[in-house]
Amino acid sequence: MTGSRSYVAALDQGTTSTRCLVFDHAGRMVAAAQHEHRQHYPQPGWAEHDAAEIWQNCLRVLPEALASAGLVPGDLAALGIANQRETTVVWDRTTGRPVAPAITWQDTRGAEIAAQLADGPTGDLFEEVCGMRPAGYFSAPRLRWLLDHVPGLQRRARTGEIAFGTMESWLIWNLTGGPDGGVHVTDVTNASRTLLADVRTLQWDQRLLDVLDVPVELLPEIRPNAQVYGECRVGLPGVPIGGAFGDQQAALFGQTCFATGEAKCTYGTGAFLLMNTGDQITRSDHGLLSTVAYQLEGQPTAYATEGSIAVAGSLVQWFRDSLEMIGSAPEIETLARRVEDNGGCYIVPAFAGLFAPRWDPDARGVVVGLTSYVTKAHLARAVLEATGWQTAEVVEAMAADTGIAFTRLRVDGGMTSNHLLMQFVSDVLGVPVERPLVSESVSLGAAYAAGLAVGYWPDLEVLRGNWHRAATWEPAMSPAVRERERAAWGRAVERTLGWER
Ligand code: G3P
Repeated sequence: MTGSRSYVAALDQGTTSTRCLVFDHAGRMVAAAQHEHRQHYPQPGWAEHDAAEIWQNCLRVLPEALASAGLVPGDLAALGIANQRETTVVWDRTTGRPVAPAITWQDTRGAEIAAQLADGPTGDLFEEVCGMRPAGYFSAPRLRWLLDHVPGLQRRARTGEIAFGTMESWLIWNLTGGPDGGVHVTDVTNASRTLLADVRTLQWDQRLLDVLDVPVELLPEIRPNAQVYGECRVGLPGVPIGGAFGDQQAALFGQTCFATGEAKCTYGTGAFLLMNTGDQITRSDHGLLSTVAYQLEGQPTAYATEGSIAVAGSLVQWFRDSLEMIGSAPEIETLARRVEDNGGCYIVPAFAGLFAPRWDPDARGVVVGLTSYVTKAHLARAVLEATGWQTAEVVEAMAADTGIAFTRLRVDGGMTSNHLLMQFVSDVLGVPVERPLVSESVSLGAAYAAGLAVGYWPDLEVLRGNWHRAATWEPAMSPAVRERERAAWGRAVERTLGWER
């Protein structure tokens, strides 16, 4: 392969789109391309993607990103992949076609299976081995659902005709050759979200496979985050795939949160706050998850505690597309700035239950505090404030679990361009909120992993040196207002709980 090998590319396969970003040695973004894919909601609570469409989008964004900067595959030292986590894909190894729609992480159909597993000693076993109690959010209940509902799938899974993976597995398999010899792997972070892997050994756990009746023949091999898994045969021919990461762990890595206690929150479709806990697997009494943060080849595993918020950017999307209150996402800030406050109105977006710290699959959303005084500008504020308060709840849970109080919070993701929201997050947390120069932390983290694997970057210290602060929001809300608003938010949340029961 000829070319400069001066750059590293990242493929970020997210909930709403697939993007390719290219970075230079200083971690600066030099090229980007993006395509959205369709969202399918065949029933209330169901949310599906077409994995074949996502693969086609991947094949579009890779050359488009390179072309936008006049690059060729030979200019890339490596490709890293980050992906929406827990979204479950099952495909036929011979035809290379998905056997069913991909069931996304937002889909609730695994909830009932998870609830059965969460009861009693089985629940304790999962918590002990995986670091989290069963919930419909994770991949394995969805896989079980597919094995139960796609005719003949359980039998075909046993014979090894079928492959399971999250999006990074699916894309790596296709990029490395698909039915003609694709590599079937996953990384430790994605594996840690399935409910099938032991977070200490980083291997599939036979006891958990037995409980869920998942044939091991279905499963990819679990690999470190930074390692050459294979070479692209399509998409970026000749470029080594040097890393993969669940997107939220990728962002933690991209934000260079390598030390215990360092944390970031990524505001995308949902919002996910992860704190590095070093070699400690914390056990939460406050609705947080223990998860693998990263593992570099030949090095000890770093863990994280995570507060997962299911609905953040997707609430703004709902406000735009379903309520048609605004024409584009950025307009929400202009609208919200027309008023001083929320006018007494609160929106709790428990669209498919609540994740951290409540984990109530039966919760459903509410808008409370409506009076004839409330305008759509107040609603816009309430939409943004919902993300702020959910962040605050997760931070409170983390402080209660770890005894570590935040002194600042690093943020990234699309919603961080909303200054009103970032100011509100700082206000309700009572600490400064910092955004780095390159706020595409998910892609940057995936690129970093791939670059480390091929020696493009030598070590973590060099990556740390690439982090530069671009914006800081300082808290300005009075404690009295914070307390009053926090209490009102809490009362609003109470009204969502158990709605479907
Ligand atoms: O766990 C789900 C998460 O990985 C989705 O991330 O950025 O696509 O909302 P995002």
